[in-house]
Amino acid sequence: MARWSHLASLAIALALLQAASSESWLYDQFTTDGNIRAYEASGQQVAMVSLDQHSGGGFNSKEKYLFGEFSIQMKLVPGNSAGTVSSLYLSSGEGDGHDEIDMEFMGNSSGQPVVLNTNVWANGDGKKEHQFDLWFDPAADYHTYTVIWNPKNIIFKVDENVIRCFKRYADLPYPDAKPMTVHATLWDGSYWATQKGKVPIDWSGAPFVVSYRGYSANACASGSSCPAGSDKWMNRQPDNAEWGTVAWAERNYMRYNYCDDGWRFPQGFPGECSRN
Ligand SMILES: *[C@@H]1O[C@H](CO)[C@@H](O)[C@H](O)[C@H]1NC(C)=O
Repeated sequence: MARWSHLASLAIALALLQAASSESWLYDQFTTDGNIRAYEASGQQVAMVSLDQHSGGGFNSKEKYLFGEFSIQMKLVPGNSAGTVSSLYLSSGEGDGHDEIDMEFMGNSSGQPVVLNTNVWANGDGKKEHQFDLWFDPAADYHTYTVIWNPKNIIFKVDENVIRCFKRYADLPYPDAKPMTVHATLWDGSYWATQKGKVPIDWSGAPFVVSYRGYSANACASGSSCPAGSDKWMNRQPDNAEWGTVAWAERNYMRYNYCDDGWRFPQGFPGECSRN
């Protein structure tokens, strides 16, 4: 009996410790911008970012990373979200020759599909979009969005489904040398996001709100060694089943593929388009 209660209190103490560490991910790991506040729900810290006519909001990691597995749960803007863009992205910073890995959610009129834009920038070149209609209502509940960035490829996941793999080819640009910070933002993308800018934000629905929770990063902080567990993602490439979900997403939900957009590349498609 005494042993059991010791064990029980140890378990409770550990659970509390764990709760405490997940509770404070926002202010521990990020600086914040604009309209953002944090609250607790079911023992988890939720970062609520909002957009009104004056400002959007977001958070930016304090640490810079070179490779990692990053994931977060997001519940997107409900109802008429046309013109709003929310995101999870990594960036090496402003300026020429920068690297970036993007997941951007382009809002839409009520009932119309929200489009997930995935993109990779290498040395300032970022015309590498794959866009997908989301096959569920991303505002009805939280879904998990993941980026795995390693020296071999960049893998994009929606919940358990790999939807894209951007491979590295030795002779083509790839983000592999510039440390990146992690960002999440909500902003007014009226000028381009929804039906190429034709549908502006309806401010009567403001404030627009996106909720983020369950952030996790297993990533190599630049300048220090990689954390325990990095072997799980450092060499990770999609397996056959995961290439299957990529094909499934492309077949059923792909809305745009830069490698099909000849109009945009009059001098010829980027090199990776003809590989695989
Ligand atoms: C919004 O809905 C329209 C109509 O279904 C669709 O053509 C468009 O791709 C959707 N997404 C965006 C971001 O415009």
